[in-house]
Amino acid sequence: MNTAKEIRQKFLDFFESKGHTVVPSAPMVVKNDPTLMFTNAGMNQFKDIFLGNTTPKSKRATDSQKCLRVSGKHNDLEAVGHDGRHHTMFEMLGNWSFGDYFKEEAITWAWELLTEVYKIDKTKLYATVFEGSAEDGTQMDSEALEAWKKHLPEDHIIMGNKHDNFWEMGDTGPCGPSSEIHIDLRSDEEIAKVPGRDMVNTDNDQVIEIWNLVFMQFNRKADGSLEPLPAKNIDTGMGFERLCMVLQGKTSNYDTDVFSGMIKQIEKLSGHSYHENAKTEVAMRVIADHIRAIAFSIADGQLPSNVKAGYVIRRILRRAVRYGYTFLPLLAGAPAY
Ligand code: ALA
Repeated sequence: MNTAKEIRQKFLDFFESKGHTVVPSAPMVVKNDPTLMFTNAGMNQFKDIFLGNTTPKSKRATDSQKCLRVSGKHNDLEAVGHDGRHHTMFEMLGNWSFGDYFKEEAITWAWELLTEVYKIDKTKLYATVFEGSAEDGTQMDSEALEAWKKHLPEDHIIMGNKHDNFWEMGDTGPCGPSSEIHIDLRSDEEIAKVPGRDMVNTDNDQVIEIWNLVFMQFNRKADGSLEPLPAKNIDTGMGFERLCMVLQGKTSNYDTDVFSGMIKQIEKLSGHSYHENAKTEVAMRVIADHIRAIAFSIADGQLPSNVKAGYVIRRILRRAVRYGYTFLPLLAGAPAY
């Protein structure tokens, strides 16, 4: 079995072998962008490069970025704990082209990594492609469609609307059409009943998006209009914890070695077992997720407090405490919290 650490390293090694510079994660706490409190995507630290305000040191970069999606446009807080695939904090594996390669290479390398390095069964994979938007005056992404046709049969390629296939950092900022890679982890029996293509983007825990390839071409302005960026860029983001789930043969991110140690410790401290009932499961997932988010936020410079970003962290902390007190009452003989 691949450990999470090995899975992360393979990603970075792969893109390094394709001429990318491995860069460190930026802090999760953002101090220099009024549109953002926390890093919500791998591309945040490169925003000024996309906008043409800064020149990149290297035209290709790769990293694993700590992200927190708890406020603003990307907010998963209330979903956390109730399924096996959402997090407040997560790692986003990414590769970037700053005005260098574009759609063809991004798609080809994503496919190569997933199917040849990680050896994921090709028949389980689906790709979505942007269908265009009359409202924004954007076209159907025929370039991405043609690139995918080289790897996937047509019934594994699905057209998607602006909601699913046009990625934006926030209300303003760099954005562009995207192509997502989804995987169907259901049993053969279930697949025979309903094909995977009908399950993509239906909020199913076992048919999930693992990687988003964004073709950064526009800047969304405050008046809602799109202006072309100075160069065409690639911004990809793969959910590290989901990838670990797939490669470790699990059905929940919380069963991977990213979280299993924390869950065991919560079991020990509370005296409850994870699978005691549905409520203990939710509570332990909430606590495991939130404690990680809070610890990394503090390490990156944001303490819980009663204002702004600090208040967001305090709310995460409170949510974990609330789930603990409500669903994991201290049992006799368990060590005190
Ligand atoms: N920026 C893209 C995302 O966060 C890759 O999904």
